[in-house]
Amino acid sequence: MKRVVLSALLLGLAAPVMAGDAPYTVKDGLVDGKTYKGFQTWRSAACERCHGPNQEGMVGPSLVESLKKLSKEEFVTTVTNGRAEKGMPPHGFLGAEKIDMLYSYLKGRSDGAFATKVKTFEE
Ligand code: HEC
Repeated sequence: MKRVVLSALLLGLAAPVMAGDAPYTVKDGLVDGKTYKGFQTWRSAACERCHGPNQEGMVGPSLVESLKKLSKEEFVTTVTNGRAEKGMPPHGFLGAEKIDMLYSYLKGRSDGAFATKVKTFEE
């Protein structure tokens, strides 16, 4: 029994980090500059107030889960326009470039490619 649980855990940990068309790059535990700026935007926009310090949800849903299903277009539309009636405020003021950077960071978090706090190999 113990062994079954252990291998299930190991399989979970070994879940592949999606490569190819990923919107982020990880090298030696460091991320590309765009993803890093997405992390800075995440902090300056204080998304964590509602989505939690590790994106795992609070008042708002877990973005680790959401980004497994949402398309990039849906993400951009939701962040830009918000869903006021459901408590998600509009963030169009951030501008398209920063919302794109946010996507790179949150997609990587959702894929389990890096931990919440990232450092970059570019700057
Ligand atoms: C005041 C609280 C609040 C803040 C701040 C906030 N959100 Fe949200 N967000 C929500 C709530 C509540 C929902 C769920 C809306 C719904 O039920 O459709 C949501 C939904 C979302 C969704 C869609 C999730 C899905 O599964 O459809 C995304 C993506 C998202 N937020 C990203 C962000 C990002 C990025 C930021 C920071 C720029 C942010 N949010 C800031 C409350 C917030």
